Amino acid sequence: MGWQAERMASGESASDTHPYSRAHIGLTELMPRYRVELRNPDATSLDRFFDANQVSDWSQVRWKDVGKPYRVEDRARGRQEWEAKHQEDMPVQTSWEYFNRSFHEWFVKDVPRELGEVKHDLKAHLARFRWSEVKAALGRYIHLSLWNYVQRVEDGIWDPRGKRALFQGLDVHKPRILFLGAAEGYEAMQLSAMYPGGEAVLVDYDAFCATDRFGHFPETYPFLGTDPATGQPEVWYKKQMNLHYMVDDIRNLPFGKEFDIVISVGLLEHFPDSYKPEVMEWHRQFLKPGGYTILTTPRDQWKSRLYYKIMADVMNYTYRELMNIRQMGLYVYENGFDIVRHGFIKVHNGIVAKPR
Ligand SMILES: C[S@@+](CC[C@H](N)C(=O)[O-])C[C@H]1O[C@@H](n2cnc3c(N)ncnc32)[C@H](O)[C@@H]1O
Repeated sequence: MGWQAERMASGESASDTHPYSRAHIGLTELMPRYRVELRNPDATSLDRFFDANQVSDWSQVRWKDVGKPYRVEDRARGRQEWEAKHQEDMPVQTSWEYFNRSFHEWFVKDVPRELGEVKHDLKAHLARFRWSEVKAALGRYIHLSLWNYVQRVEDGIWDPRGKRALFQGLDVHKPRILFLGAAEGYEAMQLSAMYPGGEAVLVDYDAFCATDRFGHFPETYPFLGTDPATGQPEVWYKKQMNLHYMVDDIRNLPFGKEFDIVISVGLLEHFPDSYKPEVMEWHRQFLKPGGYTILTTPRDQWKSRLYYKIMADVMNYTYRELMNIRQMGLYVYENGFDIVRHGFIKVHNGIVAKPR
């Protein structure tokens, strides 16, 4: 029985919107859509999730030694069909609109229920020798099992422990945070929980991200952060944070150098090399002097290559690269940043940097 079920069974009342409190720090449990992860509040035990410092001097790293990132070539069927119908390449913003709708569908699945249904269907089709239905059900089963493993069991997408390890130790107080290409805004919420009392501005030009991906992000999801009064671990919820969502193009933003932290998660790898200096400039132009930029990009590892192959119809609407930490670090370094910390978390590389 899960922790929540036990509490309900014991007659203890549960708040609808804030089901976890400080008393539950140290817990983890699987919900139908995601993992609740309140383990490891202290920085020491977080470190094992973030293997830092592979490179001691970035000025010595050369492209000829590290090679270029791996390009994911498979395209989602939805994109191929759009291009066949319109007889042109799908425009970049349209490809994000398709991606966000397609990806969001998976976050709202009750995974154990759907897995149960597909197993039932599979048995029924097998019993009647309906081979094309068997094939379709098997495909659904493979996709759901992979999603279950990556998102629920391993918590590889949100990866709160890895993100906390990456974000820890920043010298900021009540920071203003800017999230470029925010999608559902997860990392702005994790940062706001760890560094409370400031403000986070989330920017995405796909309105669906504001209304659905962020708009319907579960309000009961607990973020492990800090109590500003005591410095002790505290549980935070979306509704308690000072978050502002802007539907706009990053290239139109009205801000000056006014943010303590500028972050992007899975943005840089969607731009071919000729655009990367411009993308890095987006991370510099809104930073206060001494501010931090934080970037993550998917790792080039066989598990990730396989994931983007199997999940191609869900994920691959946009140009996408997979890179290793040395390739990513070189993009950041050669575009004028000093790298404060670098390493990898579950499925992403992570870098904390400051403009040189
Ligand atoms: C790959 S997503 C970020 C990954 C995210 N964590 C997720 O779960 O999907 C990148 C986001 O950046 C947004 N984006 C890309 N280019 C943009 C631009 N020029 N202005 C604003 N948003 C942009 C896309 O709409 C998309 O939602």
